[in-house]
Amino acid sequence: MNKKTDWYKPMAFYQIWIRSFKDGNGDGIGDLKGVYEKLEYIKSLNVDGIWFSPIYPSPKADFGYDISDYTDIDPEYGTLDDFKKVLDKAHLLGLKIIMDLVINHTSDEHKWFKESRKGKDNPYSDYYIWRDKPNNWDSILEGKAWEYDESRGQYYLHLFAKKQPDLNMDNPKVREEVKNILRFWMDLGVDGFREDVINFISKKEGLPDGLPFLPVINGIPYYKDGPHIHEYMREFRGVCEERGCMQVGEGPFTTLPTALKYLYGPEKSLDMMFSFDHMMADCFYTEYLHRPFKLSRYKKALTKWQKGLEGKAWNALYIENHDHPRIISRYGDERYRYESGSSLAASYLFLKGTPFIYQGQEIGMTNIRLKNIENYADVSSKNNFYRFNLKDSLERRLKRIHFSSRDSSRTPMQWTGGKYAGFSTHRPWFFINKNYRDVNVESEEKNEQSLLNFYRKCLKLRKQSRTLLFGSYREYFPADEKIYMYERSFKDVHYLIICSFSKHTADFKLPGGLKGVRMEQVLCNYSGVRAQFTLAPYEARVMRYRKP
Ligand code: NOJ
Repeated sequence: MNKKTDWYKPMAFYQIWIRSFKDGNGDGIGDLKGVYEKLEYIKSLNVDGIWFSPIYPSPKADFGYDISDYTDIDPEYGTLDDFKKVLDKAHLLGLKIIMDLVINHTSDEHKWFKESRKGKDNPYSDYYIWRDKPNNWDSILEGKAWEYDESRGQYYLHLFAKKQPDLNMDNPKVREEVKNILRFWMDLGVDGFREDVINFISKKEGLPDGLPFLPVINGIPYYKDGPHIHEYMREFRGVCEERGCMQVGEGPFTTLPTALKYLYGPEKSLDMMFSFDHMMADCFYTEYLHRPFKLSRYKKALTKWQKGLEGKAWNALYIENHDHPRIISRYGDERYRYESGSSLAASYLFLKGTPFIYQGQEIGMTNIRLKNIENYADVSSKNNFYRFNLKDSLERRLKRIHFSSRDSSRTPMQWTGGKYAGFSTHRPWFFINKNYRDVNVESEEKNEQSLLNFYRKCLKLRKQSRTLLFGSYREYFPADEKIYMYERSFKDVHYLIICSFSKHTADFKLPGGLKGVRMEQVLCNYSGVRAQFTLAPYEARVMRYRKP
């Protein structure tokens, strides 16, 4: 491992979606003061860094992913000085800080767009993608992908919400702006970037019409992994590489071969990429198109990426973030919250790669089910409700939102069982999940056998073992729909991870080559003596052994 360039490999990161993390100034909105107070808590999880979802000034049409100033902090969240305090304290505690870099689009309230829309002859005119006639692309978050602008007399492209115009990355001035943003945050001392929808930033010349049969992402063949993507990514890489800055890209709909082009070989421009395949074990390409969870789909996707990157590149591991509903409500079972939450944790924290843990995941927060669509805050939930399946009953449409809404992961963090779940002293900006009296940090701290403590144990174990960090991966019994079993191996030290995904007891056998091998159990989400070849509901075990 090269210490200068590969420092993130033995690490784990905690993701903060600040608005709902912790309110420090009593206005009902999470902020940097709140983060400052909770840095020791984050450190206590045995993670090594924090990824901040956007905290820059933003009108919040997409809660921060619509940026109106790249080099400041949103006043609702604090100031640049507050940020520096967080950064310094985090560094003292040994925590790295990575920022969200959103460069596919800005807010329509960014000064570049305000200028650009004025007409065709101003310095920012070509910062965005303007056309006299729109093509047939849908946007991912809000209606069609083109919006007419009166003052300019043209349409602008927005792959996401209307208030998120796409930047024209083919303009070298825009790329220079991006490099300056990178330099600004690196000068302040940040350690890396999570790069939003980074595989969408280069669009095919001429912007051809998209596939008629694929709603929402019909233009994808013409904006994903576009013609100049690697050229532009290499330019940005050059700026980051000089300072040993880590780059992890978000790659919606990326396939393994296309991801490898970003991660490996002469065009390498990213250290890791968030892939989506394993997040589709209960849906088609968005949670809105729901199907029953199938364990073999989850395992197949994980194994594909573990094997596919082996010896070439490094995985970014996650099962939750601010874009997906809570994992226990999807792949687990809310009635077995602790058991399924901990089995899910073991199913991914011991894979090869750098794990990311999303706020609230570590205490097993679950989905909310609001009674009225108007109560939802997320633009994509509203888009899904009002645009699709309009012939279905309101009840059915709302039920789909219950499965799919990103708002489920954006409810205030449940710190205590007290007023406003200890998130704030003021009525919070959004609904708190009703289960906060049972599900909260304070009560899980007190309980040795809580999900919170299980996460801590997993992350500690992982960190202490070369095998779990760097060993090879092998899956056993891939067709089994109840159990995920995988082995990690480094020299003669091996680990077998056995996770049940069943709410019933599940029998298992050891693979042929492991029969008779003496194994030591190093972690289990149940206490007491365990039946040798039968797992309790959602039981997870980690076994260590040597092979002669
Ligand atoms: C991906 C982000 O994670 C998501 O929250 C956002 O809506 C889109 N990109 C657009 O920025």
